[in-house]
Amino acid sequence: MSAPELKIFKNKHLLAEKLAKDFIRHINRMILSNEKVSIALSGGSTPSLFFNAMVSMDPQVDWNRVRFYWVDERCVPPEHPESNFGVAYREFLLPLGIPETSYLRIRGEDDPEKEALRYGELIKKNVAPGKDHPVFDIVLLGMGPDGHTASVFPWQKALWYGDHLCTVGTHPASGQKRVTFTGQLINNAKRVVFMVTGSEKAPVLKKVIRRSGNYLEYPSSFVDPQSGILEWYLDEEAAGDLS
Ligand code: 6PG
Repeated sequence: MSAPELKIFKNKHLLAEKLAKDFIRHINRMILSNEKVSIALSGGSTPSLFFNAMVSMDPQVDWNRVRFYWVDERCVPPEHPESNFGVAYREFLLPLGIPETSYLRIRGEDDPEKEALRYGELIKKNVAPGKDHPVFDIVLLGMGPDGHTASVFPWQKALWYGDHLCTVGTHPASGQKRVTFTGQLINNAKRVVFMVTGSEKAPVLKKVIRRSGNYLEYPSSFVDPQSGILEWYLDEEAAGDLS
């Protein structure tokens, strides 16, 4: 596993601002050499900070050369408050005028198993092929306090190493079904970026970053881009146990 690059910021707002600036720089650089830049977004609450920072920068990007996907999606309709696409649409896609042709959402309203297969086929068809699996240019991940990432939760290791590009996860508390990338897609990306804030994540983050204790119980520990870059954008709260 290549050494992950840690970027630690005083607070989550400074983190989001720098992440947005770096994203814009990466996208504009990749547009020069890629027909289409493929980016996968995560959900939850943290990405809203990033979306707001992106919108406030009003980036000059040819969005027609970019296509957004989702790392995971709750199995709810897009207008549901918990829809990862719904949040991204309201806070990012719509305010920036990103055209409908520049994103392909997971259909949370459809049958989860069928949608996981459909989305995997869609990715195969639209994302640059690699030696084994499609290659995303950037995958943006979050991490829960329990060390989950995407919608692969602790003790669901088999989902991560499954045979398909996308599968169906289950939230351990709510039982909510979610369509999610598996490790095949995440670890095949050119650049994987974790965005993690908050002191409640510090204990597990330390184990994942330092690969100490029972770190292998946490799916975030399975993120290990084979030939890509792994970066952690952390605020001081989340990084509090690393020192
Ligand atoms: C989701 C996300 C999930 C998220 C973590 C962190 O659909 O919930 O994809 O993996 O990244 O749960 O969530 P917060 O950003 O809300 O802490």
